[in-house]
Amino acid sequence: MNVPEVDYAALIKVVESLTEGETDEVAIMATLACEIHHADDRFDWTGFYRVTAPDMLKIGPYQGGHGCLVIPFGNGVCGTCAQTGEVQLVDDVEAFPGHIACAASTRSEIVLPVRGASGRLIGVLDIDSDQPAAFGPADAEGLAQVIEVAFGNGGHWR
Ligand code: SME
Repeated sequence: MNVPEVDYAALIKVVESLTEGETDEVAIMATLACEIHHADDRFDWTGFYRVTAPDMLKIGPYQGGHGCLVIPFGNGVCGTCAQTGEVQLVDDVEAFPGHIACAASTRSEIVLPVRGASGRLIGVLDIDSDQPAAFGPADAEGLAQVIEVAFGNGGHWR
């Protein structure tokens, strides 16, 4: 059920304070993975995949069980997000063609594109839940604002 426990306005304020003046992308990702993961019991895996080469994602900072290391653009939910630049809201991962299951317990997922201050795609934010249909538009909007505040990309999340 996609009823956010997290207070996104409060999370944004915390993230803004913790990342103020920081430009190192991995340091920002590590901070966001921690703060987002612990903000809501729906979030069972929270992490980033970074663009490390053309059309290639590699795992970045995360919280939760081990995640797969490499995802080509177009593969899985993360690779689809990276390829399209669109938020992926997946109510049932088993219904998503090519879903990559890092944990058998995952039932739903949200993935957002992450753009740096220049607007260039630098990675994706991936959150898995063991609950079906755990995410909704309020999560997409709130998480996009968290990304925007932390990476200073002016809100080009759509
Ligand atoms: N489920 C993702 C792969 C990353 S693991 O969930 C951490 C996907 O299908 O792209």
